[in-house]
Amino acid sequence: MRAVLKLGGSLLYNEAGEVITDRVRDYAAAINALVEKGNNFVVVVGGGRPARSFISAARALGANEAQCDWLGIKLARHNAELLCAALGDTAYPKIAETLDELEVATCTGRVVLMGGLTPGQSTNAVAALAAETTRADLLLNATNVDGVYDRDPSEAGAKKLDSVEISELKKILSGGGTRAGEYKLFDPVALRVVERSKIKTIIFDGKDSKNLHRLVKGEKVGTTVTHSN
Ligand code: UTP
Repeated sequence: MRAVLKLGGSLLYNEAGEVITDRVRDYAAAINALVEKGNNFVVVVGGGRPARSFISAARALGANEAQCDWLGIKLARHNAELLCAALGDTAYPKIAETLDELEVATCTGRVVLMGGLTPGQSTNAVAALAAETTRADLLLNATNVDGVYDRDPSEAGAKKLDSVEISELKKILSGGGTRAGEYKLFDPVALRVVERSKIKTIIFDGKDSKNLHRLVKGEKVGTTVTHSN
C-alpha cells in the first residue's frame, strides 16, 4: 500500500515545549516495520508548538501573514528532520520542499518527508497534495483528537462519527480560522484536494502510534472521510 501519513505537530511536543522523543522513535519504528512489509510512505509533519510560538511572536512584532506562514512552513520542516533522523536509512535524506521534489524522491522507494509547502494553507493541505501527487491509496491523519465530531467536541452531546461524507465534513469545519497557525483539522485547500481526487482519508488519534499498524491492517480506527460519487 502507498500511504501518506500526516503527523500533527502537536503530537510531538509536551506541555513544557520539549520534543517527545519517545513518540518520534515509536513512529519511526512503526513506519519502518510497515515499510519492511512492502508499504510505501510519505510523511508530512506539522509545525506544532514551536510554529505557534514563533508565529505569535512574529505577528506581535509586525510580521504580515505570509511571513508568519513561512515561519510555520520552516518549523514544520525542522520537525520533519527529527523524524528523518529517527528513521535512519529508510528515509530519503532531504526534506522535500516542493511537489516536484516529492515525485523524484518517491522514485527511490524510501520514505519521503515533508513539512510546509507554501503560504495560505496548513500541512493538512500538503498531505492532501502529496497523496494526490503520489496517487496514494490512503491519507492517514494522525492528530490529537480521536476523530471528527458532529459539532465542537467541547459542546455537550457532541458525538464522534465513524464516517463522514466530505460535504458534511466541510459543513462541520466551516467555522475554522484561516490565519497563520489557526487551522483546525482540515483547511479549505486540504478539503478541496481530498474532494476533487476522492482521496480515502482517515482522521485518527495519533497519541498511540500502534493505531498506524491497525489502520494499515484495515481495522476501524478514528473517522473515515467518504465520497458519495
Ligand atoms: P500546521 O498548522 O499545519 O501545523 O502548520 P500542525 O502542527 O500540523 O498543526 P496541528 O498541531 O496538527 O494542529 C503550522 C503553520 O504553518 C503554516 C500555517 O501558518 C500553519 O498554520 N503553513 C504550513 C503554511 O503556511 N503552509 C504550509 O504548506 C504549511
